[in-house]
Amino acid sequence: MALILPSLFAADIMHLKRECDSLYEEGFEILHVDMMDGVFVPHIAFGFEQIRNIKNQTKMKFDVHMMVSEPEHHIEKVLETGAEMISVHVEASPHIRHVIDQIKQHGRKAGVVLNPGTSPVVLKPLLNVIDYILVMSINPGRPGQSFIADTIDKIREVKEMIGDREIQIEVDGGIEFDTARLCIDACASMIVVGSYLFADNKANLNKLKTLHNPSVKEDRN
Ligand code: DX5
Ligand code: ZN
Repeated sequence: MALILPSLFAADIMHLKRECDSLYEEGFEILHVDMMDGVFVPHIAFGFEQIRNIKNQTKMKFDVHMMVSEPEHHIEKVLETGAEMISVHVEASPHIRHVIDQIKQHGRKAGVVLNPGTSPVVLKPLLNVIDYILVMSINPGRPGQSFIADTIDKIREVKEMIGDREIQIEVDGGIEFDTARLCIDACASMIVVGSYLFADNKANLNKLKTLHNPSVKEDRN
């Protein structure tokens, strides 16, 4: 079983509150929020104020995925949004350990993100301080791309590297029902879904719910 995290970037921007409320009612408790700076990735999306405002309007927890160059210059503002989980790309900064320490000092969950072309070896010095590893299954920057099949082997490699540590594996990009299942079989426990989940198709949502951990709904209060 795994957690499915809807990706805000693929939601209907005109009806964000309605989208978030209905996802929460469906049992999805963590929203994946993409932050793009137009430098690390070509697009610009979701600034600090927007994230904080959206967060204030929903009961969902926020998993902020910083697709931002030199996140050390922005991390304080991201922390101020109240996001419970924050991840930074290892490719984006020579000061990644420092940023992770800041996230942890504020009592949030800290994640590191690997682009498809980045080897998991770079994670080794961080394994004792991080809470989750986000394996990108597309080149980051925009929703609606195809899942990169090699990701499955990479998830297994990451799992082996983690060993007994309590580090979660998250996957993001091009996920549909079948690819979600493959990722879960390879030991991913958080699956980000954008276009597939927000497609005007309740059937997709219901299929994904069968993968989602049912205890999440019972535990809420
Ligand atoms: C893309 C983002 C993803 C994206 C996922 O760079 O990180 O979170 O919204 O959307 P899909 O599932 O459509 O690839
Ligand atoms: Zn993302």
